[in-house]
Amino acid sequence: MSASITQNSNILKNKSVGYYNNSSPLKFFYSNIDLTKDVKPNDVVVKVKAAALNPVDALLYSLANPIPVLNKFNNKLNIFGCDYAGEIVEVGSNIQKLKNYKVGDLVNGVLGVNPLQLSKQGSLTYYLIIDVLKNKENISKLSTLPLDISKNLEFHDKFVIASSWPLVFQTAYLMLYGHGQVPSTLKPGATILVFGAATAVGNALVQIAKNELKVSKVVGTCSSYSIENRDTQIHSAFDHLIPYDDPTTSVKDHILEYIKKESINHNGKFDLIADCVGSSDVVDIPEQVLNNNKTSHYATLVGDNKFNYNSATLIDFMKQWKIAKRIILRRKCLNNYSYSLDMLRGKEDAMILANKMISQGTYIPRIDSVYDLDNFQAAVTRLSSSKAKGKVVITIDD
Ligand SMILES: NC(=O)c1ccc[n+]([C@@H]2O[C@H](COP(=O)([O-])OP(=O)(O)OC[C@H]3O[C@@H](n4cnc5c(N)ncnc54)[C@H](OP(=O)(O)O)[C@@H]3O)[C@@H](O)[C@H]2O)c1
Repeated sequence: MSASITQNSNILKNKSVGYYNNSSPLKFFYSNIDLTKDVKPNDVVVKVKAAALNPVDALLYSLANPIPVLNKFNNKLNIFGCDYAGEIVEVGSNIQKLKNYKVGDLVNGVLGVNPLQLSKQGSLTYYLIIDVLKNKENISKLSTLPLDISKNLEFHDKFVIASSWPLVFQTAYLMLYGHGQVPSTLKPGATILVFGAATAVGNALVQIAKNELKVSKVVGTCSSYSIENRDTQIHSAFDHLIPYDDPTTSVKDHILEYIKKESINHNGKFDLIADCVGSSDVVDIPEQVLNNNKTSHYATLVGDNKFNYNSATLIDFMKQWKIAKRIILRRKCLNNYSYSLDMLRGKEDAMILANKMISQGTYIPRIDSVYDLDNFQAAVTRLSSSKAKGKVVITIDD
């Protein structure tokens, strides 16, 4: 910590990666944090050791002030990144309310994402000031993987691992637990169809589904390259993989063929569709793919189309108007196959479950690559390629 503190030990020298709007480049910004003035009673100050990137970071950057004339009125700084892991270096004065946190604690979490916020705090930074009471669903003391597992991983640094999962685990948890299907439907015997078996959310989802909920089958879609190299590309818990780039057979036909083949044993249909990429392959034929209109659910994180993270515009979102119609009309109470567009919202139970599974080794986050802060641009390029297998993580050392 000493290198960041000026002669006045109440001042932390901060360095962050940020942007003003989508026409200004990502670059370093420098500031001072005055511990006597900037830290409020419910805050902790976290010295960030690692931060993981998510597609939403690139999306927020693409969408920052899409109407150039507004840049004149809103020139607020946004810092890139949401997921972080690090060490508490300062605790606010509200000792009673912050009794679970002390200087030296190792923590991880995800910062809230609000596209309407004019100025955004981000995790690509030396120091974060976090109001613990407002963020209690999204912050935890970090757990570590059992040594016999972590020693065999290519990227085993505890901060790298701890920064890699909060957003994707929370999201996978929401898709599985957020629709009233646990414990009644998603239990042994249940089946799940995941669009995006190679995504980081899909990776977390299959491990929760198989290791915690003990569902029987999880089927996923991915590229034929990922199928050919599944040992290194895809989590082994997937029972069956369907290529989305087969020139001879569409994804829809592959899925219907799988259901037909499986129907010899049971009806072959799925209890949950978890769309982690943006797919419209079977969205209009829920009755052919989902098991039961009262208990099954179709959840998407993205909508009918995959976004290009680098060039997304508001028009891309407006083109997805059919989603709104489905959300209104497809409901269990209307005797229809329920449908949702799931948006991340923190759940303390999800953080607790993730930490439990990590300490047991039943959830192993997948890390695609690790960069240092000076190479953040290469990390953002890797994220935006949409080919990362697991999380792109940046280590931060001042
Ligand atoms: N709504 C929310 O709150 C929320 C929260 C989290 C994430 N999301 C969204 O969910 C999506 C997944 O996020 P993530 O971080 O898990 O992504 P990610 O890890 O960056 O996904 C990368 C993977 O996507 C796979 N992929 C690319 N195109 C595909 C396609 N057409 N079909 C199937 N797989 C494809 C690629 O594997 P292959 O090589 O096999 O193609 C690649 O390895 C993103 O669009 C993200 O914005 C939304």
